[in-house]
Amino acid sequence: MEIIILATPADVARTAADVIEQQVRLGPSVLGLATGSTPLGTYRELIERHRKYRLSFNQTQAFLLDEYVGLPTAHPQSYHSVIRADFTGSVDFRPGSVHGLNGMAGDAEAETAEYEGHIAAAGGIDVQLLGIGADGHLGFNEPMSSMSSRTRIKTLTRQTRQDNARFFTHVDDVPNHVLTQGLGTIREARHLLLLATGRAKAEAVAAAVEGPVAASCPASALQLHPHVSVLVDEAAASQLAHREYYSDTYGRKPAWQGL
Ligand code: F6R
Repeated sequence: MEIIILATPADVARTAADVIEQQVRLGPSVLGLATGSTPLGTYRELIERHRKYRLSFNQTQAFLLDEYVGLPTAHPQSYHSVIRADFTGSVDFRPGSVHGLNGMAGDAEAETAEYEGHIAAAGGIDVQLLGIGADGHLGFNEPMSSMSSRTRIKTLTRQTRQDNARFFTHVDDVPNHVLTQGLGTIREARHLLLLATGRAKAEAVAAAVEGPVAASCPASALQLHPHVSVLVDEAAASQLAHREYYSDTYGRKPAWQGL
């Protein structure tokens, strides 16, 4: 795991966009996309690069991490709508190449199994963007999720519903249930890119990166993966015990190495 401490959220966004640009320039690629506030800067950066020098996503497929149960696709807070508004609708993904879970599916088990099949058929995910919840969730794998879990239905914690209430009129409007890629599913992506900014994420980042691998902190599953880049700003890094070591190592990283 490589922990990269950057000065500002804008630096985190630029560095994450660099990783994604490098991947999509290789040719046909599969991205895993997160929603929420954290990746917004990265998406804005990618949209700008698309406008400036035609960085293209027309050979890229994308899979969303999760979706609210009970929100129709057209609902403005469904992750289908959110990702289109925040990113995919402003670049040149081909029609049908951005995939999400159907939160209105009558049979959640069939829907989630089928989604896993679509990811596998696309060849798996090359780069998976991730945010982290203040309670350490990854995707919507809340505490005590199995490290080997697959895509399935989960119940959101009170804290996550409260945290996400800002996107809804009232906290009671935040759905109780979600469909989410499992920790085992996420761990199959070839490169995991966790982004965290702001002081509110500092404890969760420290637990995920330096704490024990434990179901009580689902993001500690990152420690089981061979290729993880954790991009954090100073505030999100503030509770890391070894931050000097991480900064020193990154400062002396050979230029050829990449992330
Ligand atoms: C969203 C997702 C969540 C968020 C996390 C952080 O698709 O899977 O794990 O990444 O809740 O959300 P923000 O970035 O809004 O703080």
